[in-house]
Amino acid sequence: MDGVQSVTAIHYVQVFSKIFNHEALETYLPKIQLVIQDTLRMWSSSPEPINVYCEAQKLTFRMAIRVLLGFRLSDEELNLLFRVFQQFVENVFSLPVDIPFSGYRRGIRARETLLRGLEKAIQEKLQNTQGKDYMDALDVLIESGKEHGNELTMQELMDGTLELIFAAHATTASASTSLIMQLLKHPAVLEKLREELRSNGILHNGCVCEGALRVDTVTTLPYLDCVIKELLRLYSPVSGGYRTVLQTFELDGCQIPKGWSVLYSIRDTHDTSPVFKDADVFDPDRFGQDRTEDKDGRFHYLPFGGGVRNCLGKQLAKLFLKTLAIELASMSRFELATRTFPKVTPVPVVHPADELKVRFYGLDSNQNEIVTETEAMLGATV
Ligand code: HEM
Repeated sequence: MDGVQSVTAIHYVQVFSKIFNHEALETYLPKIQLVIQDTLRMWSSSPEPINVYCEAQKLTFRMAIRVLLGFRLSDEELNLLFRVFQQFVENVFSLPVDIPFSGYRRGIRARETLLRGLEKAIQEKLQNTQGKDYMDALDVLIESGKEHGNELTMQELMDGTLELIFAAHATTASASTSLIMQLLKHPAVLEKLREELRSNGILHNGCVCEGALRVDTVTTLPYLDCVIKELLRLYSPVSGGYRTVLQTFELDGCQIPKGWSVLYSIRDTHDTSPVFKDADVFDPDRFGQDRTEDKDGRFHYLPFGGGVRNCLGKQLAKLFLKTLAIELASMSRFELATRTFPKVTPVPVVHPADELKVRFYGLDSNQNEIVTETEAMLGATV
């Protein structure tokens, strides 16, 4: 993408390290927590079961738009932009054949509509700088351009913005869905997680007045860390990546020539690495202090890729997933709304092949189910 190239010119990695450094994450966290809490309240108040993958995509899109990019869009504008974004993503991998009604044509049209929507949001943001209490990722991108005497054009800002949403959205939605599915499948894991949160005084009743989470608190909970690590091992959203061979080398007696494209597989690595016992079992304790199965070697565990082009948003992604797990454990009871769990399919990211339908119920501070007003009234009448 053009935006990526120009950002590369102004030290792509440096910009990203500013966007996701500890200080930045600390300012995003209360906002991420609010977006998640709002979403869980919405899910809990729905009379119908929630289609988790679809709603998780909306949640991560909302997080990217509201927190990362700092756009102040109404719910209606946000939903509209989300629908266009989905159309764009659905058609991104279609064959480049430009004929009417083709996926390619739909994808191009969706991209244009999306860029117009982003342009409007960026313009409003540039004009309306008041009442802002933190630097979001887009602010950092704009400032870095200025610092390097290379003010980004609107086109570059739009491309950079789209790249950020694209990288953050599908991967994090995939992992969020897998998290909910695994917590449903393994109630003992959820209970152990609740216990850890309770003993650290973090299990709450979803009230905003409870006080915002801090990065250090979230990142130093050992069992929560094991759960998210294991989730990303067994259900790595991204299956692998491509690299160009810069120097001819030999692997298991085969010569791989310079200039070739090679694919490294994250999923196969996690499935076949000898360091993981019973690799197909969801077992967070494998990363616990007693076992630390990932301690030997650098390349057995790589949900965020490896080498210089590894994921630049990994700290944010982990923080988001940990916050989601904390809020799920604190705020809701949830149960599968179908007889069986859907199968999981790995492309383009890991996700349920059929809908994962789940009912959510709010919990109060004693972990009792919250009865909605309508239900309470009905109960009173009966
Ligand atoms: C659970 C969530 C996520 C997973 C599993 C994930 C995984 C990955 C992987 C495997 C790569 C490397 C692909 C390759 O080898 O070519 C990558 C690249 C990247 N990711 Fe993520 N990612 C996640 C979330 C995010 C988020 C939230 C952001 C930013 C907001 C982000 C930004 C990026 C960027 C910018 C790159 C490209 C890095 C480069 O080319 O130098 N990712 N991600």
